[in-house]
Amino acid sequence: MTITAQPTTKPSTPFLRVRNLVKVFGSFSALKDISLDVEEGEFVCFLGPSGCGKTTLLRAIAGLDLQTSGAIEQAGRDISVLPPSQRDFGIVFQSYALFPT
Ligand SMILES: Nc1ncnc2c1ncn2[C@@H]1O[C@H](COP(=O)(O)OP(=O)(O)OP(=O)(O)O)[C@@H](O)[C@H]1O
Ligand SMILES: [Mg+2]
Repeated sequence: MTITAQPTTKPSTPFLRVRNLVKVFGSFSALKDISLDVEEGEFVCFLGPSGCGKTTLLRAIAGLDLQTSGAIEQAGRDISVLPPSQRDFGIVFQSYALFPT
Protein backbone atom coordinates (compact mmCIF):
# COMPACT_ATOMS: atom_id res chain seq x y z
CA MET A 1 0.00 0.00 0.00
CA THR A 2 1.25 3.46 -0.88
CA ILE A 3 0.30 6.49 1.17
CA THR A 4 0.87 9.78 -0.52
CA ALA A 5 1.36 12.70 1.79
CA GLN A 6 -0.92 15.62 1.06
CA PRO A 7 0.73 19.02 1.04
CA THR A 8 0.05 20.85 4.24
CA THR A 9 1.46 24.18 3.24
CA LYS A 10 -0.66 26.83 1.56
CA PRO A 11 0.27 28.16 -1.86
CA SER A 12 2.63 31.08 -1.38
CA THR A 13 0.47 33.52 -3.35
CA PRO A 14 -3.17 33.76 -2.21
CA PHE A 15 -5.86 35.14 -4.52
CA LEU A 16 -6.46 37.97 -2.10
CA ARG A 17 -4.00 39.29 0.42
CA VAL A 18 -4.94 42.13 2.78
CA ARG A 19 -2.04 43.47 4.77
CA ASN A 20 -2.23 45.79 7.78
CA LEU A 21 -5.26 47.66 6.45
CA VAL A 22 -6.24 50.82 8.29
CA LYS A 23 -9.17 53.11 7.48
CA VAL A 24 -9.93 56.22 9.46
CA PHE A 25 -12.84 58.61 9.04
CA GLY A 26 -11.64 61.83 10.66
CA SER A 27 -10.60 60.81 14.14
CA PHE A 28 -12.56 57.53 14.04
CA SER A 29 -10.74 54.28 13.21
CA ALA A 30 -13.08 51.96 11.29
CA LEU A 31 -10.37 49.40 10.39
CA LYS A 32 -7.44 48.81 12.69
CA ASP A 33 -4.59 46.80 11.17
CA ILE A 34 -6.60 44.15 9.31
CA SER A 35 -4.63 41.33 7.67
CA LEU A 36 -6.04 38.24 5.95
CA ASP A 37 -5.40 35.85 3.07
CA VAL A 38 -8.08 34.27 0.89
CA GLU A 39 -7.15 31.40 -1.39
CA GLU A 40 -8.72 30.93 -4.81
CA GLY A 41 -12.02 29.04 -4.45
CA GLU A 42 -12.24 29.72 -0.75
CA PHE A 43 -15.62 30.88 0.61
CA VAL A 44 -15.21 33.46 3.35
CA CYS A 45 -17.79 35.30 5.45
CA PHE A 46 -17.13 38.40 7.52
CA LEU A 47 -19.34 38.29 10.59
CA GLY A 48 -19.64 40.94 13.25
CA PRO A 49 -21.91 43.46 14.90
CA SER A 50 -23.28 46.44 13.04
CA GLY A 51 -20.58 49.09 12.64
CA CYS A 52 -17.60 46.76 13.12
CA GLY A 53 -16.25 47.56 9.65
CA LYS A 54 -17.43 44.78 7.30
CA THR A 55 -18.64 47.11 4.55
CA THR A 56 -15.65 49.41 4.98
CA LEU A 57 -13.33 46.44 4.41
CA LEU A 58 -15.27 45.21 1.35
CA ARG A 59 -15.34 48.70 -0.16
CA ALA A 60 -11.58 49.00 0.27
CA ILE A 61 -11.01 45.60 -1.36
CA ALA A 62 -13.24 46.55 -4.31
CA GLY A 63 -11.53 49.94 -4.62
CA LEU A 64 -14.64 52.00 -3.87
CA ASP A 65 -12.84 53.69 -0.97
CA LEU A 66 -9.10 53.95 -0.53
CA GLN A 67 -7.63 52.64 2.67
CA THR A 68 -5.73 55.08 4.86
CA SER A 69 -2.75 52.71 4.99
CA GLY A 70 -1.96 49.10 4.32
CA ALA A 71 -1.89 47.06 1.14
CA ILE A 72 -4.18 44.85 -0.93
CA GLU A 73 -2.80 42.27 -3.37
CA GLN A 74 -4.70 40.20 -5.90
CA ALA A 75 -2.83 37.09 -7.06
CA GLY A 76 0.43 38.77 -6.17
CA ARG A 77 -0.39 42.07 -7.91
CA ASP A 78 -0.53 45.17 -5.74
CA ILE A 79 -3.99 46.67 -6.37
CA SER A 80 -3.93 49.01 -3.36
CA VAL A 81 -4.50 52.19 -5.35
CA LEU A 82 -6.11 50.86 -8.54
CA PRO A 83 -9.63 51.99 -9.46
CA PRO A 84 -12.47 49.43 -9.17
CA SER A 85 -12.45 48.84 -12.93
CA GLN A 86 -8.88 47.52 -12.75
CA ARG A 87 -9.64 45.07 -9.94
CA ASP A 88 -11.50 41.79 -10.15
CA PHE A 89 -13.96 42.33 -7.34
CA GLY A 90 -17.62 43.28 -7.16
CA ILE A 91 -20.08 44.01 -4.38
CA VAL A 92 -23.77 43.19 -4.11
CA PHE A 93 -24.95 45.86 -1.73
CA GLN A 94 -27.18 44.93 1.17
CA SER A 95 -29.58 47.73 0.15
CA TYR A 96 -29.99 47.58 -3.62
CA ALA A 97 -32.48 50.39 -4.16
CA LEU A 98 -31.42 53.92 -5.04
CA PHE A 99 -33.77 55.21 -2.37
CA PRO A 100 -34.68 53.50 0.93
CA THR A 101 -37.97 51.63 0.70
N1 LIG B 1 -18.10 57.53 5.14
C1 LIG B 1 -18.02 57.39 6.47
N2 LIG B 1 -17.76 58.45 7.26
C2 LIG B 1 -17.64 58.33 8.60
N3 LIG B 1 -17.79 57.17 9.27
C3 LIG B 1 -18.06 56.07 8.53
C4 LIG B 1 -18.20 56.13 7.11
N4 LIG B 1 -18.46 54.87 6.66
C5 LIG B 1 -18.50 54.09 7.76
N5 LIG B 1 -18.27 54.80 8.87
C6 LIG B 1 -18.21 54.28 10.24
O1 LIG B 1 -17.30 53.18 10.24
C7 LIG B 1 -17.79 52.14 11.07
C8 LIG B 1 -17.87 50.88 10.26
O2 LIG B 1 -18.96 50.98 9.38
P1 LIG B 1 -19.35 49.81 8.37
O3 LIG B 1 -20.43 50.34 7.49
O4 LIG B 1 -18.12 49.30 7.71
O5 LIG B 1 -19.91 48.70 9.36
P2 LIG B 1 -20.61 47.30 9.04
O6 LIG B 1 -19.84 46.25 9.79
O7 LIG B 1 -20.70 47.10 7.56
O8 LIG B 1 -22.04 47.49 9.67
P3 LIG B 1 -23.47 46.86 9.22
O9 LIG B 1 -23.50 45.44 9.78
O10 LIG B 1 -24.48 47.72 9.90
O11 LIG B 1 -23.57 46.90 7.72
C9 LIG B 1 -19.14 52.62 11.63
O12 LIG B 1 -18.89 53.15 12.92
C10 LIG B 1 -19.56 53.70 10.67
O13 LIG B 1 -20.35 54.69 11.31
MG1 LIG C 1 -22.33 46.86 6.23
